[in-house]
Amino acid sequence: MLRIPAFRVLGRTGASKVSGARRCSSRPLGVGDDAGDARAFFTTPIFYVNAAPHIGHLYSALLADALCRHRRLRVPSATATRFSTGTDEHGLKIQQAAAAAGLAPSELCDRVSGQFQQLFREAGISSTDFIRTTEARHRTAVQHFWGVLKSRGLLYKGLYEGWYCASDECFLPEAKVARQPGPSGDLCPVSLESGHPVSWTKEENYIFRLSQFRDPLLRWLRGDPQTITPAPFYQAVLQWLEEELPDLSVSRRSSHLHWGIPVPDDDSQTIYVWLDALVNYLTVIGYPNAHFSSWWPTTSHIIGKDILKFHAIYWPALLLGAGLSPPHRIYVHSHWTVCGQKMSKSLGNVIDPRNCLDRYTVDGFRYFLLRQGVPNWDCDYYDEKVVKLLDSELADALGGLLNRCTASRINPSGIYPAFCTNCFPSEPGLVGPSVRVQAEDYALVNAVASLPKQVTDYYDNFQIYKALEAVSNCVRQTNGFVQRHAPWKLNWESPVDAPWLGTVLHVALECLRVFGTLLQPVTPSLADKLLSRLGVSATERGLAELYFLPRYYGHPCPFEGRRLGPETGLLFPRLDQSRAWLVKAHRT
Ligand code: ME8
Ligand code: MG
Repeated sequence: MLRIPAFRVLGRTGASKVSGARRCSSRPLGVGDDAGDARAFFTTPIFYVNAAPHIGHLYSALLADALCRHRRLRVPSATATRFSTGTDEHGLKIQQAAAAAGLAPSELCDRVSGQFQQLFREAGISSTDFIRTTEARHRTAVQHFWGVLKSRGLLYKGLYEGWYCASDECFLPEAKVARQPGPSGDLCPVSLESGHPVSWTKEENYIFRLSQFRDPLLRWLRGDPQTITPAPFYQAVLQWLEEELPDLSVSRRSSHLHWGIPVPDDDSQTIYVWLDALVNYLTVIGYPNAHFSSWWPTTSHIIGKDILKFHAIYWPALLLGAGLSPPHRIYVHSHWTVCGQKMSKSLGNVIDPRNCLDRYTVDGFRYFLLRQGVPNWDCDYYDEKVVKLLDSELADALGGLLNRCTASRINPSGIYPAFCTNCFPSEPGLVGPSVRVQAEDYALVNAVASLPKQVTDYYDNFQIYKALEAVSNCVRQTNGFVQRHAPWKLNWESPVDAPWLGTVLHVALECLRVFGTLLQPVTPSLADKLLSRLGVSATERGLAELYFLPRYYGHPCPFEGRRLGPETGLLFPRLDQSRAWLVKAHRT
């Protein structure tokens, strides 16, 4: 009996829409076809250039990169996806950091922006745009945006008096300020939230009528609870909107802050760095030229929880003020801590991501951060955890599985073996002389068949760690399958064993093909190595082409009988402690 192929049953169109005609189609549906041709624009925060990048910055970029690469697997058109990152180079924080380093601000910006660019290149971040806020195109965009707010009556001049935190570049109400003993023992005012010093500011500034936007913001958020994901952050923003929403000072006196973009027609004032920074998302798509609207607002901002208020309140209000729509999605993640402590220069516990890429390989470290990082809460980093995870999941489970199923000992012909429907009938429970399949084997096939859709759903919900956990569980199940049937005990020369031996290997290779395809967004080189070893060509790696185990579902299999790719050694060499230390010692 012909069963409906799992990839159709599980396709986004839903089982109810699977028609008889479709069942016979030679081009079955993949999991991604509902993504259509719509454009998608992913962004990371733009990072301050006061200090070198650390693993937290890399994590944000990796989350965005994986989302973007997964989307490209669904919608391969090169023009459908855009992905921007960059550096935030203006403001008091940078002005002060440059002065402390004895550098001109532009020198500090060039140096540190270069470090971010190099890190992202090395880590395989597939961004299409890198923006620096000191570029001329950005100044044009910010000044235009300012002009629009001004012409709509949303900016007025007024006296601002209150606390300002230069490290966080934000204004704070009295209730958010604490007193802590400073270096000389005196009590100094600090931000309750971040612990950074604050200073009293009193000056005439331009002020944005933020208070007018409370109701529009609530309407926007209530209209789609997925706007801010994960849900606890959505709730937090709703909660903030219950409180007072005062107008926002959006400029500083240039005598105090010279390192920034001047207010148009008033160069005694410099534009507030957060207004400047947020507009970067429009600059990269060409604002104020009209074509920017083909990428706006189909935008997904990936940010850390520390900058949620700026992205979920100030930014949408500014956009609404300028007559534009708020962003489509804001994906929020929590922070990496190190041995239970916040990463900070003063504690000296900042983890240098370039060391980690060297020590654990690019794919290894990408896998670690995305597999262990859970957006909802802070995650703790320590080296032993990386070694343990990578050795068990990439080296032993996945690498071991590939090796077991492709080694010349077990597959001397080096060919993708044939699937025998008599040994592995589509109907569970059949008995017959050649039936060798067991009940657990059907569970494996069902689990792997539903994996692509499951992974897509996890990506849509910003749960990449769950997608990786699901893949890892299936890898474990597949190893169990191979172990159960011990193909190394079967004999290619025996007419009884041979079809079943081929079938066991075929099923395992089909599972590996699914894992390789689904791992591409997270471990691109490792996935390439795996798929190349299986003989999967570049045009067979998208989600729409992922027909798992077609012979089981009554379709021809293009891989059967194909020559496997050349052997290129271990998929992922074990890293155990001694080797990690050796590598480290070698570098220092
Ligand atoms: O806030 N764990 O820049 P920034 C995880 N320029 N992610 C972390 C992290 C950690 N410990 N520390 C930082 C700014 N991040 C502004 C943004 S956007 C228009 C302007 C990541 O250099 C996380 O994404 O302080 C956080 O939101 C961002 O870096 C802050 O980077
Ligand atoms: Mg910061």
